[in-house]
Amino acid sequence: MSEHIAVEENGPIRVVRMNRPDKKNALTSAMYAAMAAALVSAGGRGDIRCVVIAGVPGAFSAGNDLAEFAEMAKSGEGLALPVIDFLHALARCERPLVAAVQGLAVGVGTTMLMHCDHVVAGTDARFSTPFVNLGLVPEAASSLLAPRLMGQRRAFELLVMGRPLDAAAAQACGLVNTVVAPDDVEAEAMKAAQQIAALPAEAVAASRRLMRGPPEETVARIDEEVRVFKERLRSAEARTAFDAFFNRKR
Ligand code: COA
Repeated sequence: MSEHIAVEENGPIRVVRMNRPDKKNALTSAMYAAMAAALVSAGGRGDIRCVVIAGVPGAFSAGNDLAEFAEMAKSGEGLALPVIDFLHALARCERPLVAAVQGLAVGVGTTMLMHCDHVVAGTDARFSTPFVNLGLVPEAASSLLAPRLMGQRRAFELLVMGRPLDAAAAQACGLVNTVVAPDDVEAEAMKAAQQIAALPAEAVAASRRLMRGPPEETVARIDEEVRVFKERLRSAEARTAFDAFFNRKR
């Protein structure tokens, strides 16, 4: 488990909070493992009706910890197992997922939202996926889900060109449902979660399964992306980008 992931229950709602503010909620393997466990175990608990994924003020998540990416690149092993477990858990999650996004949502901080059923963002939210700039490729089945959600060209602009979206643009392309003041994000997300939790649970689950389709297609895409990601992590392009981040002048 990880000291940087807090899991709390508020009645029928489980809140999974990324809490590593000094690193802008960059995700480590331990954090992925804790988040995967929280999602999987929610599915086995009849009393949990909805899961809220939250960050801290100013940072939903800065994406995968780049020091760990650099380690993975060195070892040649590719994405660590806890990362893959978390991505599979998102695709297979049996409870509705609500996200509360304040501030930065980089890399997987943005792509995990494509698995969520309802997303609330602050006016300060900024979504970016600099995979290609880092010499990498999109992950978390975003290569499948983003074109479906926002169309091929907007997905290309986000995932390949690496152009960020502000909260209004994210709402316009369907990544976000509601935009509110940063201080109101959590309350608004909890309101949505409570509304979902109050619905007939079996009907919610059945509707959600119909709307999402079988998770196997999403899981297969995650696995294909993981395969290509492993090759890209070893590339000179990726190594140069990681070095540039850690040697940047500030
Ligand atoms: N991995 C590891 N550490 C990270 C990180 C990441 N993804 N994102 C931020 N951090 C660390 C910084 O190294 C810094 O640590 P330090 O204080 O020990 O030097 C700390 O978090 C604060 O980050 P900083 O860059 O000073 O904050 P900022 O507000 O100026 O910029 C970001 C925030 C997120 C724009 C910038 O940190 C960034 O570009 N991070 C990398 C994001 C990324 O590429 N993620 C992977 C996507 S696939």
